[in-house]
Amino acid sequence: METKQQSLSSEIELTADGSHTLFVPSMNEHYHSVNGAKTEAEHIYINYGLRESCASTLHVLEIGFGTGLNAFLTLIEAQKLQKKTIYTSLELYPLPLEKVQKLNYPDVIYPEFASLYYNLHRATWNEPCEITPDFSLLKVNIDFTHIPHPNESAKWSLGKSGNQFVSYDVVYFDAFAPEKQPEMWNQELFDAIYASMSHKGILTTYCAKGVIRRMLQSSGFTVERLPGPPGKREVLRAIKL
Ligand SMILES: C[S@@+](CC[C@H](N)C(=O)[O-])C[C@H]1O[C@@H](n2cnc3c(N)ncnc32)[C@H](O)[C@@H]1O
Repeated sequence: METKQQSLSSEIELTADGSHTLFVPSMNEHYHSVNGAKTEAEHIYINYGLRESCASTLHVLEIGFGTGLNAFLTLIEAQKLQKKTIYTSLELYPLPLEKVQKLNYPDVIYPEFASLYYNLHRATWNEPCEITPDFSLLKVNIDFTHIPHPNESAKWSLGKSGNQFVSYDVVYFDAFAPEKQPEMWNQELFDAIYASMSHKGILTTYCAKGVIRRMLQSSGFTVERLPGPPGKREVLRAIKL
């Protein structure tokens, strides 16, 4: 697979907790909550997702690599939890390194691990890369709405990497909002994610809309509404029981 050249034009903005986000003028959409990007990511993906998984080795799937904020927080948290982590993240519009270098995440999160943040971004697309001995990253440059079927001969598909089959223990569903990109939030895609997850696998998302909750339930998940981060009343956690 070659890295696709598509790009989204975006502007850096400061959010309420002092961490950056990106704003996409053409979509009138932010990558994170303006009430705090770091706070939102920790609340929804780390606290409700990663920390709740009982898997001893964590297989994480992320929809939307973006700024790498979730990946960076996961790397640090997995180190604290002393869990080996295999992190797969899908992205159609990889950010240029020059833009990434202007984001303040290493400074406001873990300055001592700044080099690891940049290593996440320097990792070659579509190849597994060892970021630390306990954290490996596979960034897949793909259109999530056109993922190949696992039985097809594609090098990568949900639940399959090369010749290896994987079951995801934790899924960060972090696409742009359903009203901006409805094609990312459809029943077929949630069914495919469900099929690729392990028993007791956890999916979290910032979107608490009833229509999304019902789609997740139709896929087979048990879904709960949980208190959201600042500025968001509720978020969703879906578990494959
Ligand atoms: C809400 S942002 C994700 C933020 C990201 N998780 C982070 O920590 O910065 C949504 C992401 O989905 C990506 N995206 C948009 N359309 C996509 C598609 N069809 N397939 C895969 N990724 C897509 C965007 O480029 C963007 O990075």
